[in-house]
Amino acid sequence: METSIEQILEEALKALEDASDVETAKALSVRYLGRKGAVTLFLRGISQMPPEKRAAMGKRANDIKNTIDTALKDAVQRFETAQKGLEARIDVTLPGRPVPLGSLHPISLVTQEICDIFVRLGFDIVEGPDVESDWYNFEALNIPKNHPARDMQDTFYVSDNIVLRTHTSPVQIRTMEKQPLPVAVIAPGKVYRRDSDLTHTPMFHQVEGLLVDRQISFGDLKGVLTTFVHQMFDERTSLRFRPSFFPFTEPSAEVDILCVMCRGAGCRVCSQTGWLEILGSGMVHPALYENVGYPAGQSSGFAFGMGVERIAMLKYGIDDIRKYFENDIRFLRQF
Ligand code: PHE
Repeated sequence: METSIEQILEEALKALEDASDVETAKALSVRYLGRKGAVTLFLRGISQMPPEKRAAMGKRANDIKNTIDTALKDAVQRFETAQKGLEARIDVTLPGRPVPLGSLHPISLVTQEICDIFVRLGFDIVEGPDVESDWYNFEALNIPKNHPARDMQDTFYVSDNIVLRTHTSPVQIRTMEKQPLPVAVIAPGKVYRRDSDLTHTPMFHQVEGLLVDRQISFGDLKGVLTTFVHQMFDERTSLRFRPSFFPFTEPSAEVDILCVMCRGAGCRVCSQTGWLEILGSGMVHPALYENVGYPAGQSSGFAFGMGVERIAMLKYGIDDIRKYFENDIRFLRQF
């Protein structure tokens, strides 16, 4: 049985309902209205029909042809508008959204910078534990129990004989125990003190230095630290060695640098003195050689220790140490 024109209409409209793009709508136009399309063929067949049916069938078939044609044209326009709308919202010529990349924390950066300078001078990098025994943190460093020198560092005790290390100096002892002369090491790491204000946090970072051989003098200490300061800051930054006291060095000196802000004129940062203290240092106390079993009377060397936060504050003009640990992305992004 031949397909009736009503069936063709129903089929065409249903096919159009399933269509969702211009290409499909155009294909349907060919399938139904093209030269060999279903409607066209039907119209051609009308001449074979009985004469009394021809006029009515011809009119109905032409109406249906127009209905399908209008529906297809409407659909093509709808699909085209939708496609343009999509293109208006997605501008494919825009650059992609950048994926935010992390960066190193300023303390990591400055620690690396400090270490790089000493590595270039021939020092090795070593590390020690954050949780330390009373022996390594104090006793072996010539700080006996109940000695007033313990007051210099307010300590977190884990138990009677275990502490959070208050400085990186215990790594001096651990290194000398393991390694025969000569040694030239730096030891970066976290240290802990019961302290908290604008310039102190309970955890901070130090870099320790130790160089021991047989003929090392205070002149070597001055030379190495002068080179360090000139590379870390600049050649114009002069140093002064101020006599001081540490139980594990003798003689001891604190190193001040000419104020990086006012170049010695006196300002708020240097409390009007023109100088900034940046590290502690001295010639290794003979008691330490005895504690680690180094040849008595023949070993000589120097040690120094500096706070990374403090160096970074001076280098970048940061006035509040707590900024390092608040993790405000606006602060951290600047490095
Ligand atoms: N450990 C000392 C401190 O934390 C610094 C220091 C290290 C001083 C080595 C002298 C020699 O204050």
